[in-house]
Amino acid sequence: MSIAVFASGSGSNFEALVERSRKQHWPQPISLLLCDKPQAKALERAERLRVPAVAFHPKEYKDKAAYEQDVLHCLQEHNIEWIMLAGYMRLVGPTLLEAYPWRILNIHPSLLPAFQGKDAVRQALEYGVRWTGVTVHWVDEGMDTGPILDQKPVLVEPHDTMETLQRKVQFVEHNLYPAVMYKLLTGRILPPDPSSMELKEEQQ
Ligand code: GAR
Repeated sequence: MSIAVFASGSGSNFEALVERSRKQHWPQPISLLLCDKPQAKALERAERLRVPAVAFHPKEYKDKAAYEQDVLHCLQEHNIEWIMLAGYMRLVGPTLLEAYPWRILNIHPSLLPAFQGKDAVRQALEYGVRWTGVTVHWVDEGMDTGPILDQKPVLVEPHDTMETLQRKVQFVEHNLYPAVMYKLLTGRILPPDPSSMELKEEQQ
């Protein structure tokens, strides 16, 4: 059994996860990068790191269920037990949630429930908060709404720009996400019983 990382963009979290998993000899390897954007820079990182990668074109499917059915086949072919979303800018639908109850994690660049959705670092800077941070949480059908696994704060300093704050947030992300996953894989955090994940109304 192994882990898949889903990404849509740069893939810096993907790279940090792969490096940590190798250094720490995780009991399950990261054996797949799945992108929903064929141009994603994450794909170049996968090539350099020698992690198998696949790119999907969600727009070519008639709906989310059809897209996710294909994704699911791919995950099953690669013997995937865990899914880690790392900058995957798409809501996960019932097909994957039902196939992977309490097995899908996400990282978000804010202290949830503050600043959900896109551009969370910019939202925090524009709001003027003193502290923002990083959250790792279980994925449910909402946007950045699942139960929280762990969080780490990041201080917003008066001289911070988007660039400096982004750098600080990503530094924390690159440490927190692998740390949480390692705890799950080694039984230091126990996932809830799979039957306890109840899906709300189906959404496409
Ligand atoms: C990360 O900061 C991640 O937390 C964020 O996208 C970035 C991806 O960076 N995710 C979200 O905003 C999800 N709502 P990366 O591609 O360099 O890992």
